[in-house]
Amino acid sequence: MFKFAALAALVSIIPLINAQSPIYGQCGGINWTGPKTCVAGTTCTYLNDYYSQCLPGSSSTPASSTKPPVSSTTAKPVSSSTKPVSTSTMPGGSPTTSSAPASTPTVAAGNPFSGYTIQINPVYQAEVVAALPAISDAATKASAAKVENIPTFFWLDAVARIPTLDTYMAAAAAAGGKRLVQIVIYDLPNRDCHAKASNGEFTIANNGAALYKTAYIDAIVAIIKKYPSVRVVAVIEPDSLANLVTNLSDPNCAAAQSVYLSSVTYAMQQLTTVGVVQYLDAGHAGWLGWPANLTPAAQLFASLYQSAGKPAGVRGLATNVANYNALVAASPDPITQGNPNYDEIHYINALSPALQASGFPDHFIVDQSRSGQQNLRQQWGDWCNIKGAGFGTRPTLNTGSALIDSIVWVKPGGESDGTSNTSAARYDSTCSLPDATVPAPEAGTWFQAFFQTLVTAANPPL
Ligand SMILES: *[C@@H]1O[C@H](CO)[C@@H](O)[C@H](O)[C@H]1NC(C)=O
Ligand SMILES: *[C@@H]1O[C@H](CO)[C@@H](O)[C@H](O)[C@H]1NC(C)=O
Ligand SMILES: *[C@@H]1O[C@H](CO)[C@@H](O)[C@H](O)[C@H]1NC(C)=O
Repeated sequence: MFKFAALAALVSIIPLINAQSPIYGQCGGINWTGPKTCVAGTTCTYLNDYYSQCLPGSSSTPASSTKPPVSSTTAKPVSSSTKPVSTSTMPGGSPTTSSAPASTPTVAAGNPFSGYTIQINPVYQAEVVAALPAISDAATKASAAKVENIPTFFWLDAVARIPTLDTYMAAAAAAGGKRLVQIVIYDLPNRDCHAKASNGEFTIANNGAALYKTAYIDAIVAIIKKYPSVRVVAVIEPDSLANLVTNLSDPNCAAAQSVYLSSVTYAMQQLTTVGVVQYLDAGHAGWLGWPANLTPAAQLFASLYQSAGKPAGVRGLATNVANYNALVAASPDPITQGNPNYDEIHYINALSPALQASGFPDHFIVDQSRSGQQNLRQQWGDWCNIKGAGFGTRPTLNTGSALIDSIVWVKPGGESDGTSNTSAARYDSTCSLPDATVPAPEAGTWFQAFFQTLVTAANPPL
C-alpha cells in the first residue's frame, strides 16, 4: 500500500509571491508548474519523478544524488537512473561494525520516551504552516495551527532525504536537554512488494541490497553518530515483514523475502551501534491481528531478531502505522466482524503472549494520527485517504497499557496516500473507492482538503 511520507506540494496551494520555493517546498516533478528554484541556503533536490524539494544546504551535494527538476511526462515510478549513490559521507563503504566508539550511546533500557522532549519534525511543521493561508474559516485555521507543534515521525523514504535528518538532529542537539528525534526507516529494495506499483528507489535487480546498506543505512548511522546527546526512536520498514507473513503467495513478495530479511537484519544491527531504539512495523489489527496470523507473525519477528543476535536497540513493535484503527474502539466496527481483535489494544494483547513464547520483546508504540473517527470504512483493508477521517489521540505516554510505551503520530496527516486519477501511472483503485476522498493528488504530496477534514474531524478536538 502507498504510505509515503513524501513531502508536500505546498506552494501549489498558496498564491506565489515570488519565484522561489521556500525551504522544504516543492521545486520540481512531473507536471510541476510552480517555481523551480529555491530560496538561498537550500538546494532543489530530486526525490522522485513526481517530487523535487528545497532541502537545506548549498549545491555542493554530490551530483549523483541530485537531479534537475523532472519535466518529462514519462511517469516511471522507479528508474535506475534515479538511484542516488551518495557515498561521500561514508567511510569508504565499510560499515561500522562491532567496535563502536566510546561516545556512542548505549541503547536505553525501559521506555525510551520517558523523560524526553520530542523534537518537532521540521518538514511536517513547514507543511502545516504553508497550509494555513488557504484555510478561510478562522476557527479551523486556529485549530490547524496547533498541528504544527504535534510531533510526527520523519520518513526517510529516499536517500535524498538523509541530509535533512542532519538538520533535524542538529536542531535537537542545539535545543539541549533530553531531546528525542523520531524517524521511519523506509527504503527497502523492491519496497512495498504487495502494492500495485512499487515506488522504492532501490531494486534487487539493480544492486539494491548493497545500496540499501551503504547508501542508505550507513549514511543514516553516520549522521546519528554525530549527535550522541540526541535519542533516536525508529519505526522499521512499514509493511515489509507483515507482507512476509501473509503475502508470500504474491510472487513479488516471495522474490523479495530473503533481501527483506537480510536488509532488516542489517538495519537493526547498525542502528543499534548508535543507540537507536527500534520498533519493527507489525501491520495492524485487521492484518496480523487475525487469530491465524498471530503465531506466524510472532515467529517471524522472533526468528529474525534471534538470528540477528538480539540487537539491543530492538524494543518491540509499531502498529497501525498510517492506518485508521482505534486503539480502543467504543464498539467493534461492523467491518471487523469475525476478528475478535477488532482494535489495536485487542491485537496487542493477543500478540503479546505469542511474542513472549517466541522470544521477542513485547513493547509497542501505536499510531493514532488519523484514528480520531471510526466506522468510516466499507472494508477493513481500505487505506486510501479515508473519507471523514480526523486526527486522533495526541502522542502521549498515558497509554492505558503497560505493553504500550507511547501513542504516537507516525503518519504526517495531510500527505496523500495515493492519487485517485485513473490515468496516472501510480493509480491504485483503492484510492477511488466510495470511502476514499477524491480527487486525491499523488502519493506523498500535500492534500489540502483532506488535511482540513482531519482538522475539523479531530477527536479529541484540537
Ligand atoms: C502531465 O501532463 C500531461 C499533459 O497534460 C499528461 O499527458 C501527463 O499524463 C501528465 N503526467 C502526470 C503524471 O500526471
Ligand atoms: C496481503 O496483504 C494485505 C495487506 O496489504 C492483506 O489485506 C491481504 O489479505 C494479504 N493477502 C494475502 C493473500 O494474505
Ligand atoms: C490525470 O492523469 C492524466 C495522465 O497522467 C493527466 O493527463 C491528467 O491531467 C490528470 N488529471 C488530473 C485532474 O490531474
